Amino acid sequence: MTAPLIGTRVGRVDGRFKVTGEATYTADHTAAGMAHGYLVLASVGGGELLSMDTAAAEAAPGVLAVYSPFNPLKLQSIKTTPDLSFVGQFWLPLQDTTIRHYGQIIGLVVAESYEEARYAASLVTATYEERTPKTDLKAGIPRAVAPPIPVNYEEPELNLLADGVGSVEEALAASEVRVAADYSQPVDTPTAIEPHAVLATWEGGVLTLQVGTQSAVGSAMTTAEALGIDVFQVRVVSPVVGGAFGGKMYLFGHPLLTAVAARELNRPIKTVLTQEQVFTVTGHRSGVAQRIELGASREGVLNAVKHDAWSGFSASGVLFESAAHTTSRVLYKSPNIHVGQKIVPLDLPPTTWVRAPGEQPGSFALESAMDELAVELGIDPIELRMRNYADTMPGREVPWSSKHLDECYRIGAERFGWADRAERPGTQADGDWLVGQGMAGTVYPGNLLPTTVAVVTLRPDGGATVSSATADPGTGMLTVLAMVCAQELGIPLDRVTPLLGDSVLPLNFGAFGSMGTASTASAVAQAAFVARAELIRLAVSDERSPFHGLDPETVEYQEGRLSAPGGRQADFGELLTLLESAGVDGTGASAPGAEKLRYAIHSFGAHFCEVRVHRFTRETRVSRWTSVIDAGQIINEVTARGQIVGGVLFGLGQALLEDARPEAGTGRFANANLADYLLPVHADMPDFDVHFLRHPDTSFNQIGARGIGEIGAVGSAAAIANAVYHATGVRVRDLPITVDKLL
Ligand code: MOS
Repeated sequence: MTAPLIGTRVGRVDGRFKVTGEATYTADHTAAGMAHGYLVLASVGGGELLSMDTAAAEAAPGVLAVYSPFNPLKLQSIKTTPDLSFVGQFWLPLQDTTIRHYGQIIGLVVAESYEEARYAASLVTATYEERTPKTDLKAGIPRAVAPPIPVNYEEPELNLLADGVGSVEEALAASEVRVAADYSQPVDTPTAIEPHAVLATWEGGVLTLQVGTQSAVGSAMTTAEALGIDVFQVRVVSPVVGGAFGGKMYLFGHPLLTAVAARELNRPIKTVLTQEQVFTVTGHRSGVAQRIELGASREGVLNAVKHDAWSGFSASGVLFESAAHTTSRVLYKSPNIHVGQKIVPLDLPPTTWVRAPGEQPGSFALESAMDELAVELGIDPIELRMRNYADTMPGREVPWSSKHLDECYRIGAERFGWADRAERPGTQADGDWLVGQGMAGTVYPGNLLPTTVAVVTLRPDGGATVSSATADPGTGMLTVLAMVCAQELGIPLDRVTPLLGDSVLPLNFGAFGSMGTASTASAVAQAAFVARAELIRLAVSDERSPFHGLDPETVEYQEGRLSAPGGRQADFGELLTLLESAGVDGTGASAPGAEKLRYAIHSFGAHFCEVRVHRFTRETRVSRWTSVIDAGQIINEVTARGQIVGGVLFGLGQALLEDARPEAGTGRFANANLADYLLPVHADMPDFDVHFLRHPDTSFNQIGARGIGEIGAVGSAAAIANAVYHATGVRVRDLPITVDKLL
């Protein structure tokens, strides 16, 4: 028997390809006769563009064209609802003269070289009628409005009240103990290491876009719509993606302009954004302000949870942080729960998806507030959580498909050594470092993508190809494809060729919402099953086959080999060669079914962290970390661990470092570069202890896996803030926790 692969540790199949520099990213590509695009961006934060002087740029060496709203590249408006299109913003660049935010696209210069395009762009001048942009979230709260679209498919405001209770306020007032606090966090950005870039090539009326994206199919659909061409005239190729985290979910404006310019000029064009341009041409996570009030008995049993969130919402964007919904709706049992979500319209670049949109800020507030309640009651934070353990999802009264959060708390506490934690804050030190430990829970919904298709092809050379139009932005999806295919076919991993990142491959919307593995792995498993059946069908029906004429039921497939009574056997490669077959295909699909009606489906986990805060400088360092994750079947422990560590580092960045600051008056991000926008680096990383529970969730899908891309980012900022409180006795509710807040 071939040893099972699923659940083991498998190095990335593309690891060598990537670390040796063999992998080429979008900006590395060239095409014969290629020209270069460079964007011109608005230098004011709002108002109207009155005029642009492009004469000097047009006369500059190497320049082929200068496009602007006064000499536009025509794009069709996107008719699908903005949250379903993959452009990431309501408006398309150069189609009007409105300035919606600082750094929006107002021009595209195309020249023979990148340097010529960039130089010419610097010669373009513009005049504006300026309007002062609104960029301050907290100042905008009085202007907050209900979101224009549902929040997680639910009403923006949700009240679950016990019989006879008139309001959550009434329930709070009747509670023996109450805590109430305001929490906030600033804008943060996806900051993938590969800047956004695109290479557009037309050939025979077909556009090929090379672009790093989480969704080749979504990008192709949106491009076709914006260009007014058929979707079959667009191919989006994205085999490697240098990080995404939500920021490459959508195309934004520059690929569309580049595509149209390439058609107009009849040249392939490559446009590469500078890091600073990435901050304003693409999207960010909005700042979020939240207020939580908890009411409980003296024994720590919750009677009321009131969670309100105010999220920034860009006048350009299509997404906002639905901060209160997943966390306060799901994590704890309480007879009275109110969640409210408002948005604050701001004149900033598009608000978009960033790892765990909604759950990340929501969990920071809720899991901080639970820690505050534990302190108030003098109850251990884990014990408090267990006293409010939810066995059914509040307000739905359906069981979870699979929930083992209690085990996460227990195993995490053991692995971390939670029992050795000092009872009182500010009482542990190691030399000049104050030491503290904190924990928080984490949760993320288990969802499946819309129809996901995979094809497994058995080849005459004895290998197999597995293909699906998904993406691998560092998640390990390519390896997962190969592993599931190899296991289901019972052949060694190195005989499988996985293909993804191309919109012409079998339909798959890609890597987002922690849905990729659950959706794609199930489709691959089914495709392999179908391919095996198809092989047997061929084996019994072709006259040249040693199995010809047999009842297919008597032919067995095992580990790449067919056998039948009477000692007849053949490897599939031998058989396909003998039959002169080009290969045998099996197609598999997965799609959401009725599982959500019968179950609540979420992944859960617990984070434990130790911090050291310097007694004098107040520098905070995370020194130890344990995460225990209940996400169903874990397909590859190596890449799964990478996902959790990466997610936790997003939380670490939010807790201690990240803060994209719009300048008052201009809306310009003052730190729009990787030197001033602080991110966690290797030196900020503790040794991570990541443990997976591995209870397969087969009520959710065939493979039993839920997603893990985002759950690490949920709860981790709260675990750090709680540990900082434990180290210092100072509760910081406004992220990031910088030294000034600990003085
Ligand atoms: Mo994620 S924010 O769904 O890429």
